[in-house]
Amino acid sequence: SSDEEGGEEYLFKIVIIGDSAVGKSNLLSRYARNEFNLHSKATIGVEFQTQSMEIDGKEVKAQIWDTAGQERFRAVTSAYYRGAVGALIVYDISRRTTFDSVGRWLDELKISMFSSPIIVYVEHSAHSDTTVAMMLVGNKCDLENIRDVSVEEGKSLAEAEGLFFMETSALDSTNVKKAFEIVIREIY
Ligand code: GTP
Ligand code: MG
Repeated sequence: SSDEEGGEEYLFKIVIIGDSAVGKSNLLSRYARNEFNLHSKATIGVEFQTQSMEIDGKEVKAQIWDTAGQERFRAVTSAYYRGAVGALIVYDISRRTTFDSVGRWLDELKISMFSSPIIVYVEHSAHSDTTVAMMLVGNKCDLENIRDVSVEEGKSLAEAEGLFFMETSALDSTNVKKAFEIVIREIY
């Protein structure tokens, strides 16, 4: 418990959303365990992982929820957005349809995220003014040769929607740690 260290401890809920096969599960496994799977199976429902990091000498824990992108799980997964204070909205830079879906994911996220005032916290959190941090993530940037969405398009959509933006590759690790940590730091 936080008492042992004499400091406060924070727990933030973060969700990863986006179309199926954009690489959500691999982004999380790369970040949490430095693992990548070329033949990963589609996520069924939701799975979560708790990841700790230290910010300004305090332990910050992020409970990161990896959701299924497949249409048939939509009703289930959106129920899990509630209480989230951070989100990564992921598309695949080599498949434009996944970029076209971003607006829909965002709409769903905004509706569900703000439908509950509850913020998960440990101990008495002084952070009642906690910010909600959202990042648009263009994953698979290693696939430059078959790129279907330009960096500029990603950037301008993010700007228009008030999101952070980053291109990542779960395969070669580009910006993966950075993307998660920017979101976690912003919340904190
Ligand atoms: P759902 O669980 O169905 O929503 O899919 P997902 O978004 O979790 O995708 P997942 O992480 O399972 O990855 C789908 C496929 O893309 C797998 O074959 C991965 O190996 C591959 N993949 C994931 N990230 C990258 C990446 O950065 N680059 C490349 N080239 N392939 C990737
Ligand atoms: Mg998955």
